[in-house]
Amino acid sequence: MIKISPSILSADFANLERDIARISAADYVHVDVMDGCFVPNITIGIPVVKAIKPTTSLPLDVHLMIVEPVRYVEQFCDAGADLVTVHVESDTEENTHRCIDLIHAKGKKAGIVLKPNTPAEAALPFLEKVELILVMTVEPGFGGQSFMENMMPKVRQLRAWINEKNPACELEVDGGVGPDTYKTCIEAGANVLVAGSAVYGAADIPQRIAELRG
Ligand code: DX5
Ligand code: ZN
Repeated sequence: MIKISPSILSADFANLERDIARISAADYVHVDVMDGCFVPNITIGIPVVKAIKPTTSLPLDVHLMIVEPVRYVEQFCDAGADLVTVHVESDTEENTHRCIDLIHAKGKKAGIVLKPNTPAEAALPFLEKVELILVMTVEPGFGGQSFMENMMPKVRQLRAWINEKNPACELEVDGGVGPDTYKTCIEAGANVLVAGSAVYGAADIPQRIAELRG
């Protein structure tokens, strides 16, 4: 079953509770945390995760685009994140392991994220201990960018390794996913689709979520 994780980066921040209620047919709420250092944009942080947590029964999929996330992963867990993903590019391999261990110690799911220029192999040191791997299909930083179809070989390779080494692990794609691109992602082996503008830009949001499930 394909899961949909709408990104609230495309929601109306002045009406977040309303816009999270609008995606109640989805499987996760995708929360893009950006620090203006790891990516050239600043979005939302721990207080907003805490504020939205009681407004939804959907699990919060918190995508950290921040330098040295090991400093903050526990606080995001305490604020209500159910799944926390960290970029392998954002710290040393040792600290990425530490992030995963800290998230697990909080009883939450941990994932790693690969930027477009990062090869699939970068996931291997973590593949057997994470609950999710996220492949970026745009350069992280902004919603509404064009889907990078050339990331599909990476998705296929990771699907093969996941099936072999950790079949319960989810494989998520993020960036430019919409009606024209979701099938390509599913065919390549992704089972969780993040979609920001394609969901929030739709006239009928529940119908768009159902469409993206394939
Ligand atoms: C980009 C974010 C994405 C973004 C996706 O850095 O990680 O989650 O919001 O937006 P769309 O679906 O509009 O490409
Ligand atoms: Zn994201």
